[in-house]
Amino acid sequence: MGFSLKRIFGYFLYTSLLWAPNSYGQEKKASALPAGYAGSIMCRGCHPDISANFFRNAHFKSSVDDRIKFEQKGCESCHGPGKAHIEAKGDKSKIIAFSQLSPKQSLDNCLNCHTQQLGRANIRRSSHTTADVVCTNCHSIHKAATPKQLLAKPQTDLCYGCHSNVQAQFSMPVKHRVNEGFMQCSDCHNPHGGDAPPTRMSVRPRMMAHGLQNEEACLKCHVDKRGPFVFEHAAVRVDGCSSCHVPHGGMNARLLNRPQVFTLCLECHNGAGNFGRQGDGINLTPGSHSLTDPKYQNCTVCHVRIHGSNSHASFLR
Ligand code: HEC
Ligand code: HEC
Ligand code: HEC
Ligand code: HEC
Ligand code: HEC
Ligand code: HEC
Ligand code: HEC
Ligand code: HEC
Ligand code: HEC
Ligand code: HEC
Repeated sequence: MGFSLKRIFGYFLYTSLLWAPNSYGQEKKASALPAGYAGSIMCRGCHPDISANFFRNAHFKSSVDDRIKFEQKGCESCHGPGKAHIEAKGDKSKIIAFSQLSPKQSLDNCLNCHTQQLGRANIRRSSHTTADVVCTNCHSIHKAATPKQLLAKPQTDLCYGCHSNVQAQFSMPVKHRVNEGFMQCSDCHNPHGGDAPPTRMSVRPRMMAHGLQNEEACLKCHVDKRGPFVFEHAAVRVDGCSSCHVPHGGMNARLLNRPQVFTLCLECHNGAGNFGRQGDGINLTPGSHSLTDPKYQNCTVCHVRIHGSNSHASFLR
């Protein structure tokens, strides 16, 4: 092992890079560090790959922001003070190693900083959190498949990894084009949780995302269904889109819940005694409508503005 000039030069280059001021915004002298902290630069020697790629991470941004406290940036913002770990030559028990944390501990770690943003989505009460599906099940800090949002896998693959039944639904003849990459789960869902929607009050919220002003996510794209209409169809406004449509995919045209339109309508507008969901206040199909006459079976041929109308109370135009 000779000391060639190249080697010596290489060493100086290496150390100068190592100590390059501001490479972590943490150019503090060791004596000025908070107790127990070593500084991110000290991690480089033993964890070169992770350190070398970290500048691409969204979490690097805070590292170079002088307004943010030292404890809130760099490697130790998630892994905790690292001095003892280094002095013990990499003892895993002396650093916060996510592989050793319970789901709850791991969640709390991330929520130290992300609570404001995600708290709005009720993350602690979400179906994912209560089923122990936490941040690190979906996000990978150091080996992200998507540099934006740091997802462990591209979104659709990620969700199908646990929801394979949903994949089958998006392969049905009538469907939203998720498998084709045209839209994704998060167009309709918030994987971090979601408040109960303003529609379908009695129904489980299913972690729905919201459109403008808390309305259904569907209306982000189907703006013509938004209204407000002079004559609202209460089914749309109050019960929500899912009272007539399946959201993912199905066998029926227009993603309807029923193969025949009239059977769908008759779930609510039925006159047969107490059959089905007959509710007080829901208009029955008028006597003029003979359901034995095929002409009347195709309700939306006449009731064309089924989502609401500005000119006719029975949605005829
Ligand atoms: C935003 C929080 C966060 C920051 C900042 C962070 N890590 Fe991590 N680190 C994690 C998580 C979470 C894991 C668990 C595996 C994963 O999700 O990628 C991990 C895993 C590790 C591992 C073990 C797993 C492996 O792939 O070898 C090492 C070593 C590590 N981090 C070092 C570092 C270093 C060095 C830095 C600074 C350059 C750093 N971490 C910054 C969250 C963070
Ligand atoms: C002297 C070399 C050395 C330094 C410096 C060092 N580490 Fe480590 N680190 C190790 C070794 C070796 C392991 C593997 C321990 C094992 O697997 O039992 C390790 C493991 C880890 C793990 C746990 C990996 C897991 O299994 O989840 C994390 C996290 C980690 N280091 C973070 C850091 C951070 C952050 C710094 C800087 C503050 C740092 N290390 C500095 C040597 C070092
Ligand atoms: C010390 C504070 C802190 C901790 C702890 C922390 N983060 Fe972050 N995180 C941030 C900041 C700051 C950003 C950058 C926000 C921005 O871009 O404006 C960020 C961004 C992100 C992003 C968005 C990336 C993007 O491209 O928009 C994800 C995903 C993320 N963090 C996940 C996590 C996960 C998972 C954990 C726990 C393992 C975690 N964070 C822990 C501060 C933190
Ligand atoms: C079930 C999977 C899943 C879990 C669990 C999860 N995320 Fe996410 N996260 C995502 C997806 C998917 C996106 C991208 C959303 C989008 O495209 O709108 C995302 C986006 C983000 C973003 C970017 C900003 C935003 O809101 O779009 C941050 C920050 C973030 N997650 C942090 C976290 C933290 C912190 C946790 C744990 C407390 C967590 N996530 C738990 C899947 C998840
Ligand atoms: C690590 C596994 C895992 C991943 C990854 C995952 N989920 Fe889940 N998801 C679950 C579990 C477990 C539940 C709760 C049990 C259940 O209802 O099936 C759940 C429930 C749900 C629910 C139903 C909520 C309710 O209240 O009934 C929706 C919607 C959902 N996930 C969407 C997503 C989306 C979108 C993604 C991708 C961004 C995703 N999930 C990724 C495991 C996962
Ligand atoms: C077009 C909007 C939309 C898209 C895109 C979408 N969902 Fe849904 N999803 C919904 C609605 C609305 C419900 C609630 C249905 C109900 O309450 O009857 C739901 C329910 C669910 C449920 C709970 C019920 C069940 O069938 O198990 C899961 C899990 C789920 N979605 C996962 C996903 C995943 C994973 C993706 C992406 C691959 C996805 N969704 C994409 C709108 C959507
Ligand atoms: C990201 C935009 C987007 C969102 C959000 C969205 N859709 Fe769609 N939807 C579309 C597009 C684009 C089409 C056209 C069909 C296609 O993709 O092939 C469509 C088609 C439909 C159709 C007609 C299917 C047919 O066979 O003609 C119905 C019904 C529908 N969506 C209902 C909904 C419902 C209900 C929701 C909310 C649960 C919703 N959509 C959310 C974009 C969206
Ligand atoms: C009362 C039942 C009902 C409700 C509630 C409902 N729809 Fe529909 N929707 C229908 C019927 C029936 C059709 C088929 C119309 C036809 O046969 O021409 C349809 C067709 C559609 C279509 C495809 C044709 C078009 O008009 O663009 C879209 C998109 C759609 N609905 C979106 C929505 C959205 C978004 C919501 C929630 C805001 C919603 N629907 C609520 C019954 C309903
Ligand atoms: C989920 C239940 C539900 C479904 C399904 C439903 N409706 Fe309605 N519909 C209602 C309610 C509730 C009202 C409001 C009754 C009121 O204001 O007194 C209403 C009102 C109407 C009206 C206006 C009555 C008036 O005041 O003149 C018409 C027309 C109508 N529905 C036709 C249909 C047709 C056609 C279908 C099938 C495509 C359908 N509805 C599906 C619940 C439903
Ligand atoms: C041939 C055209 C046509 C068809 C098809 C049709 N309707 Fe109507 N519907 C009308 C007209 C016109 C009115 C308003 C005049 C009336 O009350 O007869 C009306 C009114 C209604 C009303 C409001 C009654 C009230 O009390 O204000 C309901 C509810 C209704 N229809 C439901 C249905 C359902 C459900 C179907 C399918 C089984 C259907 N219609 C099929 C033409 C039609």
